Formats: sequence, C-alpha cells, structure tokens
Amino acid sequence: MSITILGIESSCDDTSAAVIRDGVLLSNVIASQAVHEAYGGVVPELASRAHQQNIIPVVGEAVKRAGIDKTELNAVAFTRGPGLLGSLLVGTSFAKGLATSLDIPMVEVNHLQAHVLAHFIKETPEDKNQPDFPFLCLLVSGGNSQIIKVNAYNEMEVIGQTIDDAAGEAFDKCAKVMGLGYPGGPIVNRLANEGNPKAFAFSKPHIPGYDYSFSGLKTSFLYRLRDELEKDPGFIEKNKADLCASLQATVIDILMNKLRKAAKDFGICEVAVAGGVSANTGLRDAFHEHAEKLGWKIHIPKFAFTTDNAAMVAMTGYYKYLDQEFCPMDAVPFSRVVI
Ligand code: KG4
Repeated sequence: MSITILGIESSCDDTSAAVIRDGVLLSNVIASQAVHEAYGGVVPELASRAHQQNIIPVVGEAVKRAGIDKTELNAVAFTRGPGLLGSLLVGTSFAKGLATSLDIPMVEVNHLQAHVLAHFIKETPEDKNQPDFPFLCLLVSGGNSQIIKVNAYNEMEVIGQTIDDAAGEAFDKCAKVMGLGYPGGPIVNRLANEGNPKAFAFSKPHIPGYDYSFSGLKTSFLYRLRDELEKDPGFIEKNKADLCASLQATVIDILMNKLRKAAKDFGICEVAVAGGVSANTGLRDAFHEHAEKLGWKIHIPKFAFTTDNAAMVAMTGYYKYLDQEFCPMDAVPFSRVVI
C-alpha cells in the first residue's frame, strides 16, 4: 500500500506545503513573503499574518498539483519547531484541523532534521543519489550553523554548532552594514563573483572542537568599514565586490576548516550540506574542491531544497510515519528545539 504524506512548513517567512508518496515528491508549493523586504529582516507578527492568508491556498495547490484527493493522505506532517512561534502556530493549528477532519494522524517534524533529510527526497522513483549512513551534514542557515553526524534517519548527533551568530546571519548583517538589502546572503554571493577574495583580511575565530563563531568576523568587518569610511566616504561603493568576495571567502574558510577536522577525526568521507546558505556558490565550489582533493563523496541539495520548503517536512514525516511516530492533538510549537 502506498503512503502519502502532506508536509506543512511555516517556521519563518515561507508558507509551504508538499505531498510525498512513498518517498517520491509529487508537489512542493512555496509562498514567500515580500512584505519583510522593506524592514530589512523578518517581522514576526507580519509573518504569522501572511501565513494565515497563504496556508489554505498553498495547501490546496499542493494537493491539486500532486494530482490526488485529500482523502488519499495518510498523515499530516508539520514543522513544530524551531522557528518563530507565531508562524509555527499557524502551520500547527492548520495541521490539527486538517488531520482531525480527515481522521488521520499528525506527525511533528523538527525543522533542522528536515533540512538534513532533504537529501533523501526523490524527485522520481529512480532517483538514487542519497547519502549513505553515517554521514556528516553541515547545516547552515540564517539561524543555525551546525555539524551533524547522521547515523540513521532518526539518529542525529550535533557535534559542533555556533556559539553566537549563524553563518547566514553573518552574511545578512554584513550586507546590511554595506546597505545591500535583505536577505544579504544571495546579494553578497552575486557581488562576490566579481570581486577578489584576497582583497581584505577579516578575523577568524580560534575556538576548540567543532564549534563555530561568527560574531568576531562581523565585528572585524564592521570596524574595518568604519575606519575606511573615515578616510573615504565612497569606500563601500568602490570596494563592494572585493568586500563581498573577502567576506564570503572568510565565512567559507571558517565553515570548511571545522568540517574537514570533523571528517578526519570521525573518519567519514560522506559529507553533505543543507540549509539556506548551502545555496552559496562559493561554498558549493569548496565542497567540490574537497571532493576532488580529499575524496569526499559530497551531497549538495538542489536550490529548491536549500531554503525552507515543505518537501523536506513531508520527507521527514514519511520516515516518522514508517516508524509509527505520531504526535498528540495537544502538541504545541516550540521556538527552540535541539536535534
Ligand atoms: O534556511 P533558510 O532559508 O532560513 C532559515 O534561516 O531557516 O536560510 C536563510 C539564510 C539567510 O541568512 C540568507 O541570507 C542565506 O540563507 N542565504 C545565502 C544564500 N542564499 C540564502 N547565504 C549566502 N549565499 C547565498 N547564495
């Protein structure tokens, strides 16, 4: 018998719904929220209001594009956390309503686990490029920077994480200081392609183990700009591409150094990357270089599965459904959860 799962994602500013049947993606609909651009960051109250407007049409469209009737669903998987509480509440409440009306179980999904399991989404039944266990996953987004040792679908160990800012936050905050707009990561990435990565040197953290830190880099970037702007008010405009290229190179260097150390210490050559920052082309290139030089077997998600999407939620929900891991109707969202 086929197992068909609806996934709902509403942890931040993307409302998304997807349908997966037996691990194969049938649809993945995402409604992004442009309303936050004017504020230079996500405004939680506006995000939850936009989720309320989007959730019914997005779920309807996902079911329609999947070519199924909603009565064919076996379970509703939803992101329970971590994320913005108001945003999570919309997805959680909708999942409860739908599951109750269809008389099917609910499956709660950890957003971070879902990013990792995005690597197992099959777009066709023949899709066979999934990682083998155990593998390391570098999870880099606007809120997280972690190295995760993935032993099985349902067994993940965070072996390193940021002690302050996340990598995406470093991109976004430095971009904001340069007046580049929001979200800064993709803009920095685009400008970096035209700049010299060795033009400027910014500070790198020296912390033990596999943990990350990006607040020192952010401060060093800020101070350098402040000093240079005192001498020349046109400094940013004249050096935008070089600043972005140097910033990006520093972030990638920090990320890859710890990942390389973890891969060596744990003797693991199967290495994946996930989360919004995995869209960064410089980071993708670094992964390819490591594959060539160190023999890593790398797994880089398709762009559509790097940012928040419900396909990864449905995928995680599918595995949890196989384990019959359902959640009660009184489940409440969590703004913070660990893997
Ligand atoms: O995973 P995600 O969509 O949202 C969460 O944080 O959950 O990640 C968003 C982050 C933002 O910080 C954004 O600037 C960053 O991913 N990002 C990028 C790129 N595309 C998105 N950072 C660097 N280069 C990119 N191409």
